[in-house]
Amino acid sequence: MIQALSYVLVSTPSMAAWLEMATTLAGLQAEVLEPGHTARLRIDARCQRFILQASGTPALGMGYTVRGADEMQALARRLAAAGFACTPGTADELALRGVQGMVHFRDPDGYRVEIAHGLRDGATPFAPGRPIGGFRTQAGGIDLGMGHTALLAGDFAAMRHLYHEVLGFHLSDRASQPFKVEFFHVNPRHHTLGIADTGGGPGVYHLMLEYRCWDDVGRAYDMALERPESIGVSLGRHANDHVTSFYLRTPDGWMLELGWAGRLIGPGWQVAELPGLSLWGHDRSWLPPEKRAQARQMLRDIAATGLRAPIAPTESENP
Ligand SMILES: [Fe+2]
Repeated sequence: MIQALSYVLVSTPSMAAWLEMATTLAGLQAEVLEPGHTARLRIDARCQRFILQASGTPALGMGYTVRGADEMQALARRLAAAGFACTPGTADELALRGVQGMVHFRDPDGYRVEIAHGLRDGATPFAPGRPIGGFRTQAGGIDLGMGHTALLAGDFAAMRHLYHEVLGFHLSDRASQPFKVEFFHVNPRHHTLGIADTGGGPGVYHLMLEYRCWDDVGRAYDMALERPESIGVSLGRHANDHVTSFYLRTPDGWMLELGWAGRLIGPGWQVAELPGLSLWGHDRSWLPPEKRAQARQMLRDIAATGLRAPIAPTESENP
């Protein structure tokens, strides 16, 4: 079964702007393979977590990893039986990703999904684009993956069926207001995938990266505030994964959530209906006015209950 979201594929008409945002603001490491065409981004010891490729139209693909070749083939057979025929990756594709094996297919909303194994470490230690304390991609030796993605579904039922029933993602929790969304996990990270039914999909809502240190979020926010229009969701704290974060608009329009202190979940986890998506903050500038007003009222209602959440000590944890 799938262990983690290990990398993403970003096709972009704005390669230079992507590299600038990723390195200078977010603190990722860039390895430009072919200037203006192909680059890899690192956030930890792995050789890549983003494959950036120049393209006329923006697109996002997800690279999920399994334990080995046998599991990859078993999952490919399961996908084929469910109507999702997989294509083996080419030698060039494997080399670019730094994986031992990979198959890919399109999900019901058209996203390219890759099932891979054997993502290699880089030849050199991670060297961040600015002085940060690193990104949280594992905890206690357990692979948490690079973060999570949240997608605005075009066909919510078909997407839910694929990820939950076929690929085996486990439901973490769900919310119905200010829009319907379900969150799924594949490891102790609270969620690796969110699927929202806003009526406006399909589209990419965001990709979350988690810093190990809170001050690194604050410094990213300082830089983003120099261009307020680049902030799609203001600083706030989520009600489910407890991540404190803000959302930065990428050059392709979808957002990069930069967060800290996500909680981990384990056996015995109880699925719940959430009272809202955030404990405070997270003003979503992209919502229609009536939905934004509803979200603000939900924050007032939650504040009136005094609901608070503990903070996970991510800086002192043993990676
Ligand atoms: Fe998120």
